[in-house]
Amino acid sequence: MKKSYQSLEVNLTNNMKQVIHRKLSNDILRIGLIFLLAFSTSISAQDGDTAKGKSLFNANCASCHKLDKKMTGPALRNVEARLADEQGLDREWLYKWIKNSAGMIKSGDAYANKIYKEYNGTAMTAFPQLSNTDIDNILAYTAEVKKESPNTPAVSKGGVGSGDDNGNGLSNKLILGALALLFALLAGALVLVNKTLRRFAEEKGLDVAKEVGRKSLWQAFVKNQFLVLVTAIFMLLASGYFAYGYFMQIGVNQGYEPVQPIHFSHKIHAGDNGVDCKYCHSSARVSKTSGIPSLNVCMNCHKSIYEVAESTGNADYSKAFYDGEIKKLYDAVGWDDANQKYTGETKPVKWVRIHNLPDFAYFNHSQHVSVAGIECQTCHGPVEEMEVVYQHAPLTMGWCINCHRETNVKVKDNAYYEKIHEQLSKKYGVEKLTAAQMGGLECGKCHY
Ligand code: HEC
Ligand code: HEC
Ligand code: HEC
Ligand code: HEC
Ligand code: HEC
Ligand code: HEC
Repeated sequence: MKKSYQSLEVNLTNNMKQVIHRKLSNDILRIGLIFLLAFSTSISAQDGDTAKGKSLFNANCASCHKLDKKMTGPALRNVEARLADEQGLDREWLYKWIKNSAGMIKSGDAYANKIYKEYNGTAMTAFPQLSNTDIDNILAYTAEVKKESPNTPAVSKGGVGSGDDNGNGLSNKLILGALALLFALLAGALVLVNKTLRRFAEEKGLDVAKEVGRKSLWQAFVKNQFLVLVTAIFMLLASGYFAYGYFMQIGVNQGYEPVQPIHFSHKIHAGDNGVDCKYCHSSARVSKTSGIPSLNVCMNCHKSIYEVAESTGNADYSKAFYDGEIKKLYDAVGWDDANQKYTGETKPVKWVRIHNLPDFAYFNHSQHVSVAGIECQTCHGPVEEMEVVYQHAPLTMGWCINCHRETNVKVKDNAYYEKIHEQLSKKYGVEKLTAAQMGGLECGKCHY
């Protein structure tokens, strides 16, 4: 039907060209145009509005159906053509099915019962509120030709880590280069100074080689006790400075940002999609550790999120890269996405631990998150903006102690503290109490 309309349309357009070429009277042209218009509107009326269809589909059907993939219900791309070809069912059948599929099954309709069985008796919602035009629109949307995604295939980077390594490497090389240049210039300057001094000396008739040989220069230096002292002090200070710097950064991993086995973006989850930190790190509230969520938690959402939206891909990570990472999650939990079931073959994901205190220090999340009411971000930084998590705070003893000195304990409406607050505020003669005054500086609180 549709095809013949289209060819008619084409024929008409061709005819129109001929008409113009032959310079026939305007009237005929006008009649032709009206004809065309009438045809095209009648076609689109039957074809439906794909934009409206898309929003209806997303609102009513997308929870169970995708266009190109089996989910709770069958894939619906070109469903009308498919049912017409394979089952000889027409649009009337589809109207009835979509408005009340249970009624169709009960009525004993052969195909309705067949597909119902195929889907293990999963009931499709009835949509009596949809008009025939609504359904026309939905079907037009499902009949739309699939657009090829304009994305370039998997230009995946090996994670930000390696990218940054390159960046750091470059800047390190730049610094080293600059330093080398500086030294070269200094050396050059020294040579020049040396040369001019020699020339002056020679002009005055001195034999430079004899007067200031290497040995005598060294002897002159050794004899000058003041110079020796200054040099010694300078050397000591410099080495002390470097040694101190070196020892202070042992065990301090601020900025540590390892590449994880699955590229998991906190920016996409906690930022763009607003998933609460405690949805995944649920034990932060009640126990010592925050913990990393088990993969089952991921599958609460990822059974139906098998790819990211087109707009999620960005300059650093393409959509294809992100989709690949979701595939890794499926591999790890043993989820067969095509058939929507678990295969039972699981591979544990070994997340690389980022924050890690030495064993002799005791830190408790619930004490800080639940009792003190401190936001995760105070200690972990803007995690919801991090594509890859890195260690934000130094996690040194000084860092813990500073905050204990400065932070007032929230005693208001905190039954746990009413009594102790009364006693301690009397003792210190102040209204507010810091964690330090509560005993947060005692070695034993943090050291076993
Ligand atoms: C609650 C889940 C659910 C929703 C919502 C849903 N469907 Fe279905 N649909 C199914 C299931 C399951 C089947 C398979 C038959 C069965 O088990 O009843 C199905 C079958 C179909 C079929 C038959 C497909 C075929 O290949 O035979 C069509 C057409 C269809 N649905 C259209 C729609 C449309 C259009 C909407 C939205 C207006 C919609 N469905 C909403 C679950 C759903
Ligand atoms: C959808 C689940 C999910 C949500 C929501 C989530 N995280 Fe995570 N988080 C993870 C996973 C998985 C890891 C381990 C992989 C990694 O380090 O990127 C992790 C790692 C971390 C780490 C590093 C742990 C270590 O090894 O030291 C911190 C800190 C963290 N999350 C804080 C947060 C904060 C703060 C929020 C809220 C803004 C948050 N997370 C929201 C799943 C989640
Ligand atoms: C509350 C729902 C939810 C949970 C739980 C969840 N995700 Fe996601 N995930 C999403 C959404 C939403 C997207 C982005 C979809 C989009 O952009 O179109 C996403 C995207 C992704 C992506 C691609 C982008 C990226 O971050 O690299 C991966 C990989 C991913 N999730 C892995 C995980 C893992 C691993 C877990 C468990 C630790 C998890 N997800 C838990 C909802 C969730
Ligand atoms: C007072 C500072 C502080 C606050 C607030 C805080 N953390 Fe932590 N977090 C730490 C320290 C310190 C570590 C390292 C602990 C260790 O190695 O024993 C850590 C470790 C982690 C880890 C690694 C795994 C683990 O449990 O050791 C995750 C995940 C984490 N934090 C998530 C969170 C989340 C989510 C919140 C908010 C609900 C939060 N943190 C609030 C300081 C804090
Ligand atoms: C952002 C501020 C902050 C940082 C950083 C911080 N703390 Fe605390 N901490 C508090 C507050 C506030 C309390 C008081 C909580 C309460 O009991 O009401 C507290 C309480 C404690 C307590 C219990 C003290 C007591 O009197 O029972 C321990 C132990 C502790 N912190 C250890 C640490 C360690 C170890 C670190 C560093 C790894 C650390 N804290 C970092 C704010 C902080
Ligand atoms: C608020 C918690 C807290 C309190 C109170 C505390 N420490 Fe520490 N201390 C730490 C943490 C955390 C580290 C680990 C720092 C690191 O890894 O850089 C540490 C490390 C140390 C170290 C190892 C050296 C170093 O800097 O890494 C020594 C020694 C030490 N503490 C002694 C003490 C003594 C003595 C006291 C009592 C006067 C004390 N600490 C009180 C949290 C605390």
